[in-house]
Amino acid sequence: MSDIAQLESEILASLAAATDEAALEAVRVAALGRSGSISGLLRTLGSMSPDERKEQGPRINGLKDRVTEAIAARKAVLAEAALEQRLNTETLDVTLPVREPPAETGRIHPISQVTDELTAIFADMGFAVAEGPDIETDDYNFTKLNFPEGHPAREMHDTFFFNPKPDGSRLLLRTHTSPVQIRTMLSQKPPIRVIIPGRTYRCDSDQTHTPMFHQVEGLVIDKSAHLGHLKWILEEFCKAFFEVEQVKMRFRPSFFPFTEPSMEVDIQCCRDKGEIRFGEGEDWLEILGCGMVHPNVMRNCGLDPDEYQGFAWGMGIDRVAMLKYGMPDLRAFFEADVRWLAHYGFRPLDFPTLAGGLSGDTSTPAMAHTPARTHTPARTQTPAGTRTSARTQTPVSTQTGSRAMTKDRLKDTIEQALRKTIGAAVESADIAEGVDHDGEPALFVTVLYRPGTDTVDQAAALKAVRDRLLETGEKRFPYMNHHYPDDLPADDGAAA
Ligand code: DAH
Repeated sequence: MSDIAQLESEILASLAAATDEAALEAVRVAALGRSGSISGLLRTLGSMSPDERKEQGPRINGLKDRVTEAIAARKAVLAEAALEQRLNTETLDVTLPVREPPAETGRIHPISQVTDELTAIFADMGFAVAEGPDIETDDYNFTKLNFPEGHPAREMHDTFFFNPKPDGSRLLLRTHTSPVQIRTMLSQKPPIRVIIPGRTYRCDSDQTHTPMFHQVEGLVIDKSAHLGHLKWILEEFCKAFFEVEQVKMRFRPSFFPFTEPSMEVDIQCCRDKGEIRFGEGEDWLEILGCGMVHPNVMRNCGLDPDEYQGFAWGMGIDRVAMLKYGMPDLRAFFEADVRWLAHYGFRPLDFPTLAGGLSGDTSTPAMAHTPARTHTPARTQTPAGTRTSARTQTPVSTQTGSRAMTKDRLKDTIEQALRKTIGAAVESADIAEGVDHDGEPALFVTVLYRPGTDTVDQAAALKAVRDRLLETGEKRFPYMNHHYPDDLPADDGAAA
């Protein structure tokens, strides 16, 4: 047998012996790779005499072609066998629950969540959603809503005005969602049944007020819509939203230029050590304003008040979100801190529905394997402006790996940061190390204030602690609980 025939039979034998891709590739490299046997033979052609080359060239190239083909053929056989093997061994269990998709890592902002909850509730009662622009005319924001000339709400400092146009009219950032009542009545014929969620603006900033906030307005115009309907709607709404069986409501006379009579609505609640529960107790909490649409407003929209009547209400979305989910500081809503969002946000695929549960029902089997929504039930939440964070922050003993500081040093650092920011009010700070609801290592800081301490800027306190910890290289998020020795009356002022 010639050298070439010998080499060929050797290569074909090792090909036949190759039982997987890797072995096949090794054979290919040994033959056709840069320093492979066939490549070596091809290189010898250069130093041959023309006659020799004429004879050997076709033989060596023929070998190369046959081996190349044989490799391809073997490769196809192996691929077929591998597929056969997979088909025989892999099974697809179509009864397995759906795995959490990557979208699960994002979080829905509480404002979006609560807006979706409200919409689900009112949609169920037959309401459509209407929207209007944030930049509004003075006419729609005030005049057509029957605000008298010189009404204090028109003052410069109450909202953000644009420079007057040559004709003297001014645009402004709407101070409430009520102008969309006007837009709706001007563009639709009764019967009208809409809710109007959206952004609103006022020059205001403290723990429960931000210059931009959210309201939801309701408007019903019909021939016979009356206060009884309004009361029923609001009561059904409150029960559904706060997820309680029963809730007592109190309607107090009030004043709004665009309604007559006007009322403010309080709901029954129980305040207990800074925590608030709805549907029980002897206390009251104001949640919205409402009334029968003023005949002047109807006329301003071309509706005859002798033919039509209706009612409207307005409520702060941020405020009810804070109440329901126990978030103490409104400013944090808009600071775009992803750690805050990871803590207070909602899982993206738990879209609120009446049937499936508004704030994340986890009882359905498909969801049973995923962690429950990270919120405590609505009934045991803390209201805006009260002193403890209502989130169940469960300190668990934890393995946080190497720690930058001992617990004592952490405590000192945190106390110092607090004293520097809010001074003498701080009695002491306690720390528990644990993990938050998303399983992230976290610090749970309980601040005890001195007797007689009134209000403390909790957001400033949190920021001071957070910044100081970051400086020291401590990456865990500090969740703060505030404890006041005296039980102070809770803040009742509406955010809207
Ligand atoms: N627009 C009012 C506000 O911002 C809230 C309000 C009260 C709206 C009564 C209404 C209503 O529709 O009827 O304070």
